Amino acid sequence: MSEQPYELERRRTFAIISHPDAGKTTLTEKLLLFGGAIQLAGTVKGRKAARHATSDWMEMEKERGISVTTSVMQFEHMGRIVNLLDTPGHEDFSEDTYRTLTAVDSALMVIDSAKGVEERTIKLMEVCRLRDTPILTFINKLDREGREPIELLDEVESVLNIQCTPMTWPIGMGKRFKGVYNLREDAIHLFSPTHGGKIVKGEVIQGLDNPKLDEVLGDMADELRGEIELVQGASHEFDLQAYLAGKQTPVFFGSAINNFGIQELLDAFAEFAPSPFPRQARQRVVQPDEEKFSGVVFKIQANMDPQHRDRIAFMRVNSGKFTKGMKLYHVRTGKQMQVSNAMTFQADSREHVDEAWPGDIIGLPNHGTIQVGDTFTQGENLKFEGIPYFAPELFRRVVLKDPLRAKALQKGLQQLSEEGATQLFKPMKNNDLILGAVGVLQFDVTAFRLKSEYNVDCVYDGISVTTARWVSCDDPKKLEDFKKKCFDNLGEDGGGYLVYLAPSRVNLQLTQERWPDIHFSATREL
Ligand code: G4P
Repeated sequence: MSEQPYELERRRTFAIISHPDAGKTTLTEKLLLFGGAIQLAGTVKGRKAARHATSDWMEMEKERGISVTTSVMQFEHMGRIVNLLDTPGHEDFSEDTYRTLTAVDSALMVIDSAKGVEERTIKLMEVCRLRDTPILTFINKLDREGREPIELLDEVESVLNIQCTPMTWPIGMGKRFKGVYNLREDAIHLFSPTHGGKIVKGEVIQGLDNPKLDEVLGDMADELRGEIELVQGASHEFDLQAYLAGKQTPVFFGSAINNFGIQELLDAFAEFAPSPFPRQARQRVVQPDEEKFSGVVFKIQANMDPQHRDRIAFMRVNSGKFTKGMKLYHVRTGKQMQVSNAMTFQADSREHVDEAWPGDIIGLPNHGTIQVGDTFTQGENLKFEGIPYFAPELFRRVVLKDPLRAKALQKGLQQLSEEGATQLFKPMKNNDLILGAVGVLQFDVTAFRLKSEYNVDCVYDGISVTTARWVSCDDPKKLEDFKKKCFDNLGEDGGGYLVYLAPSRVNLQLTQERWPDIHFSATREL
């Protein structure tokens, strides 16, 4: 296995986190462009159309291909093999988005310079925190009037609780945006708007003291010198170890739509971002350079092509090497599986995979036997941790139109929730079926799929559940007592685990205070 250290060391697997509209799609496209994976936009843009209306999303999913092929994008840059994992955003925001973050080794955070830290970014950062994922930051849209850079860094530090270290510094903004100063290279990169797909190398002035700077920037040159002096005095030095530990984030400024600031970002990413980390399994820590293969499924995507009812299971390789035709041990079922038709994903196509290394994502065609969280090995009984269920924030009661289809509904809901985008809850007090989701689009998708795949017509009713908590207690007697007293608000999830379905946040808080020995958890390990 002599190629292993080389192949492993050059893998960089990451995802972009941001609030909708900060520029994730644009940046993804530009990273692919600068990484040489696409000549010009297209594949990534295609996805955008989906966000306007649910019906468009359905249409697109039916047309097929787009979201599967863009789920993972692989390209090479500076000798690194970069795997960019798409995190569903907008209305299709779901648990998949959270889980994808458990399959990366680092993340790139995009912030809109006019808006600063927004709510979705805060949530996604919380998930990154669970593993201390290293984060690079890109502050976007400098070609527009935005907030003061210093103020933005302060906000990132205080709201997201991570130290910032500027790698570039913007010169002006909006109409006065002139470029960025690269603090490490002591070089000024001048801005010229370049809409469209071409990469144009802009002018570079070496050295802050260079008189050419005064010629080009006029009064702004001295302003910049003053500002840089302040910034250097006030901000933290770049510390690679602190970045790798998720405690410090290097910050870049730019304008994705204008291709500006992307090169610096991509180069820094290739240089600093980590290669695959060791992964925690329930039994032991698995090192990526172990000889034997292991991998974990973090996402299942339905292929709605009615001709092929297949679903793709996305598996991250955690150790060893995957080769075509390999026999894999499916730990949960105890069965061997010969994998001859696994797929790998390029920016605009999917291909059969011949080999894959730790950090790579491969797609396994699946007819319902593979679930999110499943581990595959070459025989060892391992179970990778860290792919939890997250407590949903939206709940609906499922109402069946044709009562004779009750069994099909149960089966459909159960199977769809096993894919992990929605969760099913059954209250103890009645026979209701409650669907929980993180993003609202999932309800429509579920109804659509129940109809097309299970021939079940259903609608939704509102229900007074605000959030859910998985419940446990070390003392069986206390748990029994709790179950009796709180019977009305208790239920089971799809896996049969006990859940407290809280009618309001206040109710949850009061219940927690009243029952200090009961453990209420917002996540459950798969
Ligand atoms: P998202 O995936 O994070 O939701 O963001 P997306 O890339 O779709 O960008 C959101 C909007 O911001 C888009 O405008 C996009 O063109 C714009 N944008 C992205 N980067 C920049 C930038 O550097 N500067 C400026 N000024 N705008 C930027 P839109 O009007 O919603 O879409 P479109 O009509 O341009 O396609």
